[in-house]
Amino acid sequence: MFDTDSTDHSTAETDRVALVTGGSSGIGAAVARRLSGSGTKVVVADVDEDRGSALAERIGGAFHRTDVSVLADNEAAVAAAVRRFGRLDVVHLNAGVCGGAELDPEQYRRTMGVNLDGVFYGVCAALPELRRQGGGKFVVTASIGGLIGMPYDPIYSISKHALIGLVRSLGPALAPAGISINALCPNFVDTPLIADDRPFLDEAGIELMDVEHVADAFETVMSTEETGRAWLLQAGRKPEPYEFARIPELPEALDFP
Ligand SMILES: NC(=O)c1ccc[n+]([C@@H]2O[C@H](COP(=O)([O-])OP(=O)(O)OC[C@H]3O[C@@H](n4cnc5c(N)ncnc54)[C@H](O)[C@@H]3O)[C@@H](O)[C@H]2O)c1
Repeated sequence: MFDTDSTDHSTAETDRVALVTGGSSGIGAAVARRLSGSGTKVVVADVDEDRGSALAERIGGAFHRTDVSVLADNEAAVAAAVRRFGRLDVVHLNAGVCGGAELDPEQYRRTMGVNLDGVFYGVCAALPELRRQGGGKFVVTASIGGLIGMPYDPIYSISKHALIGLVRSLGPALAPAGISINALCPNFVDTPLIADDRPFLDEAGIELMDVEHVADAFETVMSTEETGRAWLLQAGRKPEPYEFARIPELPEALDFP
């Protein structure tokens, strides 16, 4: 059920419909605004109802209360998008949380529930609709923590590495259906997620990216024909597909990027 929805206020003419998880804040909110600015109808799916509803109203989209760690919530969000706007073309699986430095099993489950299950379930929920329509695009917000180890937050890094494996595997698997899937791998971005890390980041002289830089990268990834790629994004740089080391003498049949 939608908590809010309203008429379309965008100016550009397009029938494209997008679902953005974690769209109430930070990167997801920036992408939702950007998509809406180019005329896409956006469904914001998040646990934060107040901010999500307010954003949806501002951009002429819709909000659907969604806990991405619950499969049924993902399915309901997809169904709501199709019911409200008639189709689904773009799925930004973006909701995420930190993990912490301790190897705490309960925290592990919470973080994996949002960061990994949330993306896996999001793919499972949206795939039938994209297949039915004959194509579509998934963009997953992973992290640079999916490409390098993070000793100060191993659980987060595990979850983001797993997302890279998911994207690299599903890229070739979904291509015949006209469905692409790519991962955005930003370095640190100025959002509430990293508020607690600010002192460490400032001290280390690490430049934070603005969310608009990530929204630019999202648009770049959306505009390419690439699939199954992890797009590294750093401050002041354009996104570029990360090149993994090749495995020597791997049979050609297994040689995906
Ligand atoms: N901020 C960074 O430095 C950074 C860097 C790389 C990757 N990322 C990734 O970007 C994504 C977005 O993070 P952000 O930085 O915009 O943070 P943010 O905290 O501003 O936004 C995260 C959003 O996810 C929502 N969310 C949390 N748990 C949820 C759940 N169970 N179901 C649905 N929604 C849920 C929150 O309510 C929030 O709106 C995350 O996946 C994060 O790991 C962030």
